[in-house]
Amino acid sequence: MVRIDNIVILTGAGVSAESGVPTFRGPDGLWEGHRVEDVATPEAFARNPTLVQRFYDARRAALAAVNPNPAHLALARLDAGWRGNLLLVTQNVDDLHERGGSRRLLHMHGELKRALCKACGAAPEWAGDLSGDPACPRCGAAGRLRPDIVWFGEMPYHMAAIEAAIDACDLFVSIGTSGAVYPAAGFVGWARAAGAKTLEINLDPSAGTALFDKARHGPAGALVPQWVDELLG
Ligand code: OAD
Repeated sequence: MVRIDNIVILTGAGVSAESGVPTFRGPDGLWEGHRVEDVATPEAFARNPTLVQRFYDARRAALAAVNPNPAHLALARLDAGWRGNLLLVTQNVDDLHERGGSRRLLHMHGELKRALCKACGAAPEWAGDLSGDPACPRCGAAGRLRPDIVWFGEMPYHMAAIEAAIDACDLFVSIGTSGAVYPAAGFVGWARAAGAKTLEINLDPSAGTALFDKARHGPAGALVPQWVDELLG
C-alpha cells in the first residue's frame, strides 16, 4: 500500500450545492437565467458593467443566507487533523470553505467577497454592493472596482502553487465538479503524471470520470465526511 503524505483536493460547485448555492450546469444552473457571455467575460463587463455588477452583487448578498454543509466541515476537519501537506483548491467563489474552517485553501477562480481595482490592482475584502461605483479603498479611484472573479478568457489564480502541489502529491481528490472547465479539469491528468492516486467524489460521473483510479458517486454531504473519517482513521 502506498503511503500518503501529500494531498491535493479540488472542489467545485457540487460541494456547495447542499448549502443551497446553485451549481452552474445543473437543471437549476446559475447560467440558466443569464447567458455566460452576458455576465462572466471581460467583454460583457465592458459592454454592460451595471448588469454584471448587479449579477455578482446578488450572488454576494445571497451568501448571507447560506451556511457550510457537512462536506465543508469534514474538509476543514481533515485540514486540521492531517499532519502531511494538504492543499484545498476551490473553483468556488463562495466563502463556505473558510467559514467551515479550512485554512490551507486557494481560490483559483477568485472570491465574491473581494473586489479588484482596475486602477491600482488592489483586491480589498468586499461585503456590500459594487454597483453604484464605490471608490477603491486603496487608491481612491471611483468606478474602477470589479468583482475579483476570474472570468472566461482570464488566467486562474495561484497556478504556480497549484502545479507545484499537484506535482508533489500522493493523492488527488476531485469533489463536486463537472470537469467541464480547464485548467481545473486537467488537474487529474497532472496528478496521474506525477504518480498520484486519484479519486473522484461527485453526484454523478463527471466528464473526466474515466481518468480517476476510483470514483464514489453520491451527495458530497454524505460521502465526504465518510472519506475523511477513513483517511483520519
Ligand atoms: P458545475 O455546475 O459544472 O458542476 C457541478 C458538479 O457537481 C456536477 O458534476 C454535479 O453532478 C455535481 N453535484 C451537484 N450536486 C452535488 C452534490 N450534492 N454532491 C456532489 N456533487 C454534486 O460546476 P463546476 O464544475 O464547479 O467558473 O464549474 C466549474 C466552473 O465553471 C466554475 O468555477 C465557474 C463556471 O464557469 C467561474 O466562475 C470562473
